[in-house]
Amino acid sequence: MTVPAVPAGSVRIFDTTLRDGEQAPGAGLTAAEKLEVARQLARLKVDVIEAGFPAASPGDFEAVRRIAQETKGGIAVAALARCRDGDPQRAVEAISIAERPHLHVFIATSDIHLKHKLRLSRDEALAEAVRWVAYGRKALGPDAEIEFSAEDASRTDTDFLLQVYGAVVEAGASTVNIPDTVGYAIPAEFGKLTKRVVDLVGSDATVSVHCHNDLGLATANTLAAVQAGARQVEVTVNGLGERAGNASLEEVVMALRTRPTQFPKLGSAVQTEQISAASRLVSYLTGFTIQPNKAIVGGNAFAHESGIHQDGVIKNPLTYEIMTPQSIGLAGSQLTIGKLSGRRGLQGKLRELGHDVEGEALDAIYRQAIALADAKKEVTDLDLLALVEQRVSEVPASVELVGWSVTSSHGGNATGSVTLTVRGEDRSAEATGNGPVDALYSAVDQALQPVFGWRPVLTEWEIKAVSAGEDAQGQVLVRCRRSSDEGPGALVVSGHGLSTNIIEASIEGYLVAVNKLHGAEINGVDVAFVGRRTAEDLP
Ligand code: KIV
Ligand code: ZN
Repeated sequence: MTVPAVPAGSVRIFDTTLRDGEQAPGAGLTAAEKLEVARQLARLKVDVIEAGFPAASPGDFEAVRRIAQETKGGIAVAALARCRDGDPQRAVEAISIAERPHLHVFIATSDIHLKHKLRLSRDEALAEAVRWVAYGRKALGPDAEIEFSAEDASRTDTDFLLQVYGAVVEAGASTVNIPDTVGYAIPAEFGKLTKRVVDLVGSDATVSVHCHNDLGLATANTLAAVQAGARQVEVTVNGLGERAGNASLEEVVMALRTRPTQFPKLGSAVQTEQISAASRLVSYLTGFTIQPNKAIVGGNAFAHESGIHQDGVIKNPLTYEIMTPQSIGLAGSQLTIGKLSGRRGLQGKLRELGHDVEGEALDAIYRQAIALADAKKEVTDLDLLALVEQRVSEVPASVELVGWSVTSSHGGNATGSVTLTVRGEDRSAEATGNGPVDALYSAVDQALQPVFGWRPVLTEWEIKAVSAGEDAQGQVLVRCRRSSDEGPGALVVSGHGLSTNIIEASIEGYLVAVNKLHGAEINGVDVAFVGRRTAEDLP
């Protein structure tokens, strides 16, 4: 086996936003959106991008394959597989074109999972683990990374766990991962467990940890494990993930960077200045807003409200700031573009903000930015980022807006009318509602129902101002499902609208969601939405 070890003095950052993060209910991404996130993770310079779970759906397979094909610059692309015939083969097929393929196989090892979920004995689970690690090593060759995860490791009998890790390393695993699958561990205890695994495998394999946040301890457990010798950490942007989420990339990376004496001579290659852009993109595309007091990336993370704090920060930022906003790529919102700005200036500005945009996409954003400069006093960095994000989530449109009008007054119902083109045909409808948005959404529903046989059902609606000021653009997030698709497994999609007119933004967001639902209907849900899991017993 010639797999390169994690270089001394560094911790490998394994990002699983596109796999474990995307398993968060309602976070489903299209293949194009997944690719966009992978590009941002590459700019962030994580070491490994876990791109998905190829056996879960044809869409996920295709997204992993495309990410594997596109990702260069020494970044590995990982795919997850159960230790079950069919899964590892599919994962290998998806990542074998990668510059650095990384196969990640897993099986549960705790008695609770073995007895109630897998109905396997310990010996049977051990045999499956060894079998599929050996398969991966043979299929991908001596240079590939083969990772084995013992699902629910923190609730597994320690002697059995060590027996499994020893056997899989013997069979060719180059990384052994310790998942705290249900977020049960406590830092000192998790550090001790990690140390036992590190002592067992020595220099034969890298020890990795994968912590969930059910007790709010995912970051603490991850850092305790690093202090105990783990050299790979599995994390997600914004801590996205099922239930309470996973250890957050930005918290772990910034802790390593801010407290070097606690992690002597350990660093990561992550370009922390890209953290803010990554956080925004993931939040936007998944529709998971970030709580204001979220560490590192929350809106208030660098805001100082109290007089004493403000005074201290003005005198010297070190009084209350342990890291700078610039270190995560927050330069503050600045005036960036006016009516006389050129395309090249815009392109340079977008590059500074972490987005390489050219050709038609640049032309479109340029036109929108100039129109925006007419509608509001200042076009800021945040406005430009919102325009870029809006483009990223564009979907093929079977339904387009031609026009709308609405009347609404204090204490009364609103009446709205819309004209749409639906699959190339003009359709108009009028409806009343208890407010302007409700009336217009009802009118859209009426126009669509006879053609599609279903109407969109709104499950969530949220608005935020993109920047400060009364003339700010409003960004509306809409989540919808089809009226014909009910129950816990129903596909829920998100759509965003962006405009200085919040009614316009509301209709735009609704129609993006409608187009996604329609796309899923005609292409098949598992193809359109890569994160839709079809298997029942996924981690
Ligand atoms: O939480 C978990 O156990 C996982 C494994 C597949 C690593 O996500
Ligand atoms: Zn997990």
